[in-house]
Amino acid sequence: MNLEAAMRLAVQQAEKVKGTTYPNPPVGAVILDRDGEVAGVGATEPPGGPHAEVVALRRAGERAAGGTAVVALEPCNHHGRTPPCVDALVAAGVSAVAYAVADPNPIAAGGAARLAEEGMAVTAGVLADAVAGGPLREWLHKQRTGLPHVTWKFATSVDGRSAAADGSSQWITSEAARADVHRRRAVADAIVVGTGTVFVDDPALTARLPDGTLADRQPLRVVVGEREISHEARVLNDDSRTMVIRTRDPHEVVKALSDRTDVLLEGGPTLAGAFLRAGVINRILAYVAPILLGGPITAVDDVGVLSIAHAQRWRFDRIEPIGPDVLLSLIPG
Ligand SMILES: NC(=O)c1ccc[n+]([C@@H]2O[C@H](COP(=O)([O-])OP(=O)(O)OC[C@H]3O[C@@H](n4cnc5c(N)ncnc54)[C@H](OP(=O)(O)O)[C@@H]3O)[C@@H](O)[C@H]2O)c1
Repeated sequence: MNLEAAMRLAVQQAEKVKGTTYPNPPVGAVILDRDGEVAGVGATEPPGGPHAEVVALRRAGERAAGGTAVVALEPCNHHGRTPPCVDALVAAGVSAVAYAVADPNPIAAGGAARLAEEGMAVTAGVLADAVAGGPLREWLHKQRTGLPHVTWKFATSVDGRSAAADGSSQWITSEAARADVHRRRAVADAIVVGTGTVFVDDPALTARLPDGTLADRQPLRVVVGEREISHEARVLNDDSRTMVIRTRDPHEVVKALSDRTDVLLEGGPTLAGAFLRAGVINRILAYVAPILLGGPITAVDDVGVLSIAHAQRWRFDRIEPIGPDVLLSLIPG
């Protein structure tokens, strides 16, 4: 298997543990033996557990000697809750290491240099864009800014409406698209809505499995706005924790969630507009259904653009059919 194919496998491993590793990054690792065959794969275990390289090395056993470690993030070079991964790679007798993204954390960095000093062939930047824009996107953002990565997710008709004229919006998209949203909720750290959505839809904002039962991991539910919501609101039920933030300032919301990494904004057009005007959205996920609703309720209110010359520019980083719908993923242009 070549390095890129092995890195794709490492990315798949990393995707599987997203949401379970904080404050550590979700990393995947693959050990190729000296013939280039996969000898072990692994991903970061929950905090306090071994990092991806160590899991993959254990699975590879003696086949790691003389082989190649392919890791999504530069192996760490420091003693945290677990010993440095570079020590484990040296001890296993690996002869080459390839990684995608350098560790931006100055405390953990320096792994590549240390491995090169140990005589290993080190290759940096293998599928770097796929990793930095994929499983590590939210964690890297958090490392850079100290703030959570915010994804605005919404369901829309093809004519850009997020609800019918009477305010009803359940359900615009298909069951398959909704299942995808629940998978994303289960790996997110928080889901944010405005009081308007609570009043109109009374959502539970939980992550549920296709059979309707609760997923093992539930994000924090966050309600933003100055009005008081009913004690009977489903968002206040016992299925998960809920934070009510009595503000209309998106920056205050993001700061209040600065101990989180991956935040999903699922509010209606008012809150989405406020967050877009404030420039605190890092990705947009639009689930577009092949229906027309017309009417006055657009997916987003004023985003502060008065003329086409000042349009907010984004670019598609992924376009994926989901059942009869399409998921558009956009990042700042
Ligand atoms: N299609 C979808 O993906 C989707 C998703 C969610 C909702 N919806 C639909 O959206 C509709 C509800 O829309 P909505 O816009 O009222 O919901 P919203 O955006 O979730 O909530 C709006 C409320 O948020 C508060 N708020 C917080 N920050 C604000 C700010 N900077 N500026 C203004 N208000 C701020 C205000 O309440 P206070 O007065 O309490 O401050 C405001 O009324 C429903 O029809 C629902 O079905 C659709």
